[in-house]
Amino acid sequence: AKLLVLHGPNLNLLGAREPEIYGRETLADINNGLAQRAQAAGHELAWYQSNAEHELIGRIHQARDEQIAFILINPGALTHTSVALRDALAAVAIPFIEVHMSNVHAREPFRHHSYLSDLAVGVICGFGSDSYRLALDAAVAKVEPKPA
Ligand code: DQA
Repeated sequence: AKLLVLHGPNLNLLGAREPEIYGRETLADINNGLAQRAQAAGHELAWYQSNAEHELIGRIHQARDEQIAFILINPGALTHTSVALRDALAAVAIPFIEVHMSNVHAREPFRHHSYLSDLAVGVICGFGSDSYRLALDAAVAKVEPKPA
């Protein structure tokens, strides 16, 4: 199946950005690791990062035309602000997992609310770059039909 990983604002700075919170791995390291892992499981993984809400929304719309089976999304700060991103995910009705590297619930109160979580298949947070890997494994388990 085709999977898509989306990264929101400031995630292009991974590796350099607040490494005590987000670790030293770059976004390219993470994406390459995920693509390899997806391929080993017999799936195809595309990725996209943008700092702009409208571009992420456009990419979500495009995902429907591309028959993307599953989305992993780290919406960054848009998690806590964006009704528009929520509506885009609801509109395309592609199942998704919300991913955060940090444990947002252990941070500032404004990070405790997400506009996406109740629409998500699940939410993974707090495991650094492993959050993405765990989400990928969960997505693969969902898209692979279990033998009857
Ligand atoms: C984040 C958590 C958000 O609160 C923050 O705005 C980010 C990254 C994470 O991966 O832990 O940009 O989504």
